[in-house]
Amino acid sequence: MLISLSAILGTAENYGGRKAYIVHILKSMKPQHFDSHHHWYASMLDQIVQSDPSAKEMLYTYDTLLHGFAARLSKAEAQAMEAMDGCLAVIPSSLSKISTTHTPEFLGLSSSGLWSRYSTYGKDIIVGMIDTGIWPESKSFKDEGLGPAPTGWKGACESGRGFDSSNCNGKIIGARYFSKGYEAQNPTPINETLEYKSPRDNNGHGTHTASTVAGAAVSGISYFGFANGTARGMAPQARLAIYKACWADGCYDTDTVAAMEQAIADGVDIISISIGSRDRAFYNDNKDIAAFGAIEKGVFVSASAGNDGPSSSTLGNVAPWITTVGASSIDRDFPASVLLGNKEMYKGTSTYTRVHDATLQRPFPLFYVSTNISTRYCLSSSLEPNLVRGKIVVCNQISSYEEVARAGGAGIIGANERRYGSLQRITNPNTLPAVSVSFTTGEKIKAYINNTGSNATATMSLKGLTVLGKETTAPMVAAFSSRGPSKGYPQVLKPDIIAPGLNILAAYTKVLPYNILSGTSMSCPHVSGIAALVKAIHPTWSPAAIKSALMTSSYLIDNAEQPIKDSFTVRATNPFVLGAGHVDPNAAVDPGLVYDMAPQDYITFLCSLNYTKQQIALLTKKSVSCPNSSLEAGDLNYPSFSVVMKSGSKSFQVKKRTVTYVGREGDAVYRVSVNNPAGITISVEPQTLKFRKPLETASYSVKLEGTVAAGGGTAFGQIMWKCTEGGSQIVRSPVAVNIEA
Ligand SMILES: *[C@@H]1O[C@H](CO)[C@@H](O)[C@H](O)[C@H]1NC(C)=O
Ligand SMILES: *[C@@H]1O[C@H](CO)[C@@H](O)[C@H](O)[C@H]1NC(C)=O
Ligand SMILES: *[C@@H]1O[C@H](CO)[C@@H](O)[C@H](O)[C@H]1NC(C)=O
Ligand SMILES: *[C@@H]1O[C@H](CO)[C@@H](O)[C@H](O)[C@H]1NC(C)=O
Ligand SMILES: *[C@@H]1O[C@H](CO)[C@@H](O)[C@H](O)[C@H]1NC(C)=O
Ligand SMILES: *[C@@H]1O[C@H](CO)[C@@H](O)[C@H](O)[C@H]1NC(C)=O
Repeated sequence: MLISLSAILGTAENYGGRKAYIVHILKSMKPQHFDSHHHWYASMLDQIVQSDPSAKEMLYTYDTLLHGFAARLSKAEAQAMEAMDGCLAVIPSSLSKISTTHTPEFLGLSSSGLWSRYSTYGKDIIVGMIDTGIWPESKSFKDEGLGPAPTGWKGACESGRGFDSSNCNGKIIGARYFSKGYEAQNPTPINETLEYKSPRDNNGHGTHTASTVAGAAVSGISYFGFANGTARGMAPQARLAIYKACWADGCYDTDTVAAMEQAIADGVDIISISIGSRDRAFYNDNKDIAAFGAIEKGVFVSASAGNDGPSSSTLGNVAPWITTVGASSIDRDFPASVLLGNKEMYKGTSTYTRVHDATLQRPFPLFYVSTNISTRYCLSSSLEPNLVRGKIVVCNQISSYEEVARAGGAGIIGANERRYGSLQRITNPNTLPAVSVSFTTGEKIKAYINNTGSNATATMSLKGLTVLGKETTAPMVAAFSSRGPSKGYPQVLKPDIIAPGLNILAAYTKVLPYNILSGTSMSCPHVSGIAALVKAIHPTWSPAAIKSALMTSSYLIDNAEQPIKDSFTVRATNPFVLGAGHVDPNAAVDPGLVYDMAPQDYITFLCSLNYTKQQIALLTKKSVSCPNSSLEAGDLNYPSFSVVMKSGSKSFQVKKRTVTYVGREGDAVYRVSVNNPAGITISVEPQTLKFRKPLETASYSVKLEGTVAAGGGTAFGQIMWKCTEGGSQIVRSPVAVNIEA
C-alpha cells in the first residue's frame, strides 16, 4: 500500500510538535540494495522527514524483541511512515508511571520451606529489573559467596554520574541506563542536580524492587525501629541486572523497550517490570510487543497489575504471555488506636517513634473542615494556625505532616482515601504523632466531629510496636490493587496472582537505607523472585509452565482460615480481584501438572481474536498464517478460565485444555472435582487423567451449561485436579463467568 507522501503530509503546521514513536518493521522486506537494516531504516526516516535534518536521528534501533527504530515524527509523518513498504505499524511511545524483612517468613520461605528443601535460593538465575536504577551501596546487595557472574553473561556495568564499574559485583552483575527517549520526549531535560544520568537510583523504587527480588540477608533492619528483623529478598542467590529506564516523570516506551531488548541480549532469565500499563490492544502497545519477544526467547516476564482499584476493569499489563501481579497485605501491623470523646475506640496504624511523649496521654480537640478541599487534604498553606493550634487535625490522606506541623497542630489522624479501604498506610515516623485509619473509620470520626462541633476530642494511643501473626487478618487484597476483568480481552482471566504489596520494607537510598512502600510495584518483584526460585530448580520450564505452577498451587484462605478478603469491602472476594489466589512458593516448586504454552499457542490465540496478518506480524516479527482450526480465544491453554456468556439465554461453551505431568515419578492419577458457578453446571471429560512418566500430556474438555440470570453480572467456580496416586497435589484453576447484559 503506497500512498503519495505529499497527500498525507499535508500542510506545514503538521510538521511541528513532533513526538516519539516506535516504527515497527517487517525485517524480511528489506530491499536488496541496502547493505544493512540500519541503512534501510535511515533511508525510510530520511524520506519522511526530508525537510528537517534535526529529526533524522534515530533514538534507538531495535533488533531483538522487535524490529525497527524509534524516531521523532509529527502525526502526519507517522501516518506517512506507516504507509511505507515494510512498515507494520508506527506506535506512539507512551509515558508510564512506576506503578523485606518479614515477607519471606509470611510466604513460608523459612527453614522448613523451599529455601531448605531445595536450597538453591534462586542460584545463578539472572533477574533483569526495568526500573529507576539501583543504590548499589545498600547492604542488601553484598555479594558474599556468590562468585563471578554466571557463564554466558554478556551484560555490562555502565558508568555515569555517581556510578562506575566498581559499583557492580557478584550480586549486581550489570547496570545500564536508557535516557534517549526521555530526553527526546520530556518537555524538561533531566535535571542533573536532582537525578543521576547513570544507573544510580535517586528515587528508591528500583532499589526497593531489586532488593525484594534478590536482596542478600541483612540482619537488624527496621524502619525507625518498626518492622525490625532480617531483610532478604525472595531469591537471595539470584543475580540482579539493572536497566534504568524510568526518570523523574516516568518511563517512556522507547527507553523501556530498549532496556528490555538489552536485558534479553545480555542474557537475563527473568524480567521484572513494575511499570503501569493500559488495557489496550496488544498491537498498539510497544511493551506488550516487546514482552512477547521476551517470551519467545524463554524469558519469564512479571509485571504489576496497577494501582487503580477498587473499581473493576482497571488492570494493565493484561497480555496472556505476561504474569500479572496484584497486591495483598501481610500479617504485620503497627497498631495504634484513637479514643474519641464519646468513648468510641478505633484501631489504626502508627509508626511515630516518640510514643512516650507526655503530651500524647490526654484528649486534644479535633479539627476537620470538610467544605474546603485544600483543608480537607491539609495541602500546603491551607490551615489557619489560629484554628488548628494544639488540635489533632483530621486530614484525608497522610501526606501533610509539614502543613499540620507548620500550623501548630498537636497531631494528625490520616483518614484513608476510599481506594485504600480498610488497610492502613504508613505514617511519618518523626514529625508529629499520627495515626492512619481506614476509610470507614475516617467517616465515623468525621461524623462525630460534625455532630459534636468544637467539643469533639480524641486521645491517641500509640504503641510503638510491630505485631506479627494472627492478630492481623492476612492476606487481604489491597483496595488499590487493580482488578479484572480485562475490557479488551475478557477471554483471559487477569490478574494472574496476588503477592505482598502493602507496607513492604526493602532497601532504599542514602536518604533512608530501608523504607516501607506499597503498591503492585512491590508485589511484582515478589513474584519475579519466586519465579527465580522455581526456575533454579526447573531450568527447562517455559515461562508459561512457571506461571502455571505459581497459579495452580496458590492459596485462597487467610490466616484465620477464612476465604481471602478484599480490604475494600472486607468481604470474601473473587478471581477478578485475586486471580488464581495468593502465591505459595513452596507449593509452586512441585505443582504436579502444568498448563504449558509455546509462542505458537499465543499466535493461535491472536488468530482466534481475528487479528489481521499485519497485527500478528507485529508480535511475531514475521509473516505467519493462522492454523485452519475452529479454536476460540478461550481455548488458549491458560491455567484459569474466563468465560463470557449472554445473559438470559440458555447457553453452553466448551473449552479445551492440555496438562503436562511434571511429577518426579510415573504412574500418577489425577481426578477432577468441580465447584459450579451459580446457575451453571461444569462437566469435565474425562474425569480421570493417568500419567506413566514425567512430561506426558493429557487433554480434557470443560463444558459449561446453564441459563444465566438476566441483567448481567458474574459467577465464579473452580476446577481442581487432585492427585490420588503418586502425590497429593491439587491443581486448581479458577473459573470466572462474565455475564453480558
Ligand atoms: C535543578 O534542580 C535544582 C534543585 O531543585 C534547581 O535549583 C535548578 O534550578 C534545577 N535546574 C534546572 C535547569 O531546572
Ligand atoms: C523487634 O523489636 C522488638 C521490640 O524491640 C523485639 O521484642 C523483637 O524481638 C524484635 N524482633 C526481631 C525479629 O528482632
Ligand atoms: C480554602 O482555604 C484556603 C486556605 O485557608 C483559602 O485560601 C481558600 O480560599 C479556601 N477555599 C475555599 C473554597 O473556601
Ligand atoms: C459543648 O459543650 C457545652 C457543655 O456541654 C455545650 O454547652 C455546648 O453547646 C457544646 N458546643 C457545641 C458546639 O456542641
Ligand atoms: C472472529 O470472527 C469469527 C467469524 O466471523 C467470529 O465468529 C468470532 O466471534 C470472532 N472472534 C472475535 C473474538 O471477535
Ligand atoms: C480449512 O477448513 C475448512 C473447513 O473445515 C475447509 O473447507 C478448508 O478446505 C480448509 N482449508 C485448508 C487450507 O486446509
